[in-house]
Amino acid sequence: MHFAQHPTAPAGRHLAITPSILYFGTPVALVTTENPDGTFNLAPISSAWALGQVVVLGLGREGRTGRNLADRPELVLSLPEPGQWAAVERLGRLTGRPPGDGPRPGARAARYEPDKFTAGGFRAQPSEAVRPPRVAECPIQLEARAARVAPDVSGDFLIVEARVVKVHADARLVVPGTQHIDPAAWSPLIYNFRHYFGLGSELGHSGISETPREAAPSPA
Ligand SMILES: Cc1cc2nc3c(=O)[nH]c(=O)nc-3n(C[C@H](O)[C@H](O)[C@H](O)COP(=O)(O)O)c2cc1C
Repeated sequence: MHFAQHPTAPAGRHLAITPSILYFGTPVALVTTENPDGTFNLAPISSAWALGQVVVLGLGREGRTGRNLADRPELVLSLPEPGQWAAVERLGRLTGRPPGDGPRPGARAARYEPDKFTAGGFRAQPSEAVRPPRVAECPIQLEARAARVAPDVSGDFLIVEARVVKVHADARLVVPGTQHIDPAAWSPLIYNFRHYFGLGSELGHSGISETPREAAPSPA
């Protein structure tokens, strides 16, 4: 069998490396969940993907989001656009877990913030099928219910399988007269080895990136 050489990829000279993270570029979702006191938490994740009407999430074991879903299964995934990357990055430094409530989540020193909507500059929009609210500024919002929450093989994370029960899309993204999202109108925010991209060139990088470029803008 003959394989044509890709014009931009020279014959492979691969290095065996041991990168600290394997986040190879997935869209960011903002997850809303219900706290024990009936308030709502909001956290960015990039470990999320869809299989039919099921979404699978990977969550740190120590975070408020995973603990909330183990006890209260309703959630919303709100999908931000590239222009919202700095607000997403700000939110990623915060946790909904109060001080004294066990180890802090994540690779960064997460600071407790009970009102993440305000901290991120987002507005809560009531959902229709679940209790946690949507993020009004996000063009795509998925209301869902966790059906399975289980530890991953490393023991450090929780794998959540959730059924999507309602989808909301900004009218400008919907192909008129159909149920389809127009891929040319929708632009996800991509988290690519701790740097943020649209479906084009780089927008900036996370404060905990190990490969920052001087030219790339940092969040305010
Ligand atoms: C772009 C981005 C992607 C992230 N992806 C994930 C993820 O997939 N899973 C996760 O548990 N945390 C992820 N985080 C980290 C959480 O948002 C962060 O640990 C937060 O403190 C957890 O909040 P919580 O304790 O209120 O749930 C990500 C953060 C950012 C900024």
